Amino acid sequence: MVSTKVYVCITCKVAGEDAEERAGARLFRMLNEQNTLSDAPIELVPVECLSVCKRPCTVSFAAPGKWTYVYGDLPAETAAETILEGAALYSKTSDGLIPWKQRPDALKKGVVSRVPPLNPAHSTENGPSI
Ligand code: FES
Repeated sequence: MVSTKVYVCITCKVAGEDAEERAGARLFRMLNEQNTLSDAPIELVPVECLSVCKRPCTVSFAAPGKWTYVYGDLPAETAAETILEGAALYSKTSDGLIPWKQRPDALKKGVVSRVPPLNPAHSTENGPSI
């Protein structure tokens, strides 16, 4: 099983937030604290901005040969478990498409975009499932 990269925007900031640690950085810290709960091969990668700044916090799931997904609207204090659950489901797929009924609600509502894998064998399969 290939490793799933979970890119976490550590520069996401909630409107009006005056905290010393930005919301994205808090989310990244909480993800690292809770990542031991899953045996899925998940690699947490901090990044500075995923260009979804108006929908903090923002993460992305990616792996070789799979669709890449970007999610937003994930609260720093409560979203870590949901993100890890979603990443574990993503890691079990061959193409990155988590069946809709299995997706956590926050990932159904928070999906921003999906990008086809570089491997063209998967780029047009599976139709319009979002
Ligand atoms: S600052 Fe987080 S997406 Fe831009």
